[in-house]
Amino acid sequence: MTFTVRAPAKINLHLGVGAPREDGFHPLLTVYQAVGICDDVTASRSAGWSLGVSVPDWMDADLVPVTGDNIVDRAARLLADHHGIDAKAEVSIAKTIPIAGGMAGGSADAAAALVALDRLWGVETSDEDLLRIAAELGSDVPFALIGGTALGTGRGELVEPVADDETWWWVAVVNPEGMSTPAVYRHFDELNPDADPQPPDADDLLAAVAAGDVHGLAATLRNDLQEAAFDLRPDLSDVIDLGHREGALRGIVSGSGPTCVFLADSADSARAVATAFTEDGHDIVMVTHGPVAGAHVVTYV
Ligand code: C5P
Repeated sequence: MTFTVRAPAKINLHLGVGAPREDGFHPLLTVYQAVGICDDVTASRSAGWSLGVSVPDWMDADLVPVTGDNIVDRAARLLADHHGIDAKAEVSIAKTIPIAGGMAGGSADAAAALVALDRLWGVETSDEDLLRIAAELGSDVPFALIGGTALGTGRGELVEPVADDETWWWVAVVNPEGMSTPAVYRHFDELNPDADPQPPDADDLLAAVAAGDVHGLAATLRNDLQEAAFDLRPDLSDVIDLGHREGALRGIVSGSGPTCVFLADSADSARAVATAFTEDGHDIVMVTHGPVAGAHVVTYV
């Protein structure tokens, strides 16, 4: 028996960051949106545990840890331990989500693996337990399970769905050189030594989403990590400027970067913005839309 589960990348429409907590994590108030750039995780029955990864041509396979320390290895161990069974499966990840790109690709892999292995092992984990195990694996993993558009609080792991009937068009400009999320958060602390413990709210953005108002959404997109990301990688502000010149309604750094995402008012204008980036020499440019579903089974064999 084989299960393939697909899980989406995320964009933070709003990433409000507060002063670090005692455990070192930052309190967040974030609005996530799952977009149609996805990784697939396939799990089959096996006498032992193995994990393989395949990547598209433009991605550097060496960046994926496959030494027993991939987040999928840890997901399998946590799920197996929860049920008191051995973690046996042959698992492969087919990646499309940029590695270390600020789009939660590792989190998507973990969420997809949890769903695939739950099915493969027939252990019927409750939604509550699956979300709890997901939160142990990383702040963004619960969102990768539920997908859609959602409000995230805590360190990002407490998620509640937000009604969103619109289709929003995005262009993702991927940077070949990834960024370290902890480094960006550390630099945020250096730049904001007096940050409020309470992260800023997203009320205006949520009103724009509820109204399906693309110009309102463009005006209220916010990423508190962007200044730190620009400081560490000054080239990113040029990318944002180019998108604005080429007709995107608004561009922001995705999460901790370095992927930059641009909101467009239609599929056609998203494609026009993407073409402009390609002509400017950016090799990896994707047109996508959101919201899309969280981790879900796509094949049963
Ligand atoms: O939870 P996750 O493993 O994705 O977090 C990766 C790193 O990002 C953490 O070790 C921490 O340095 C930083 N982080 C943070 N505050 C958050 C989420 C992540 O400081 N709310």
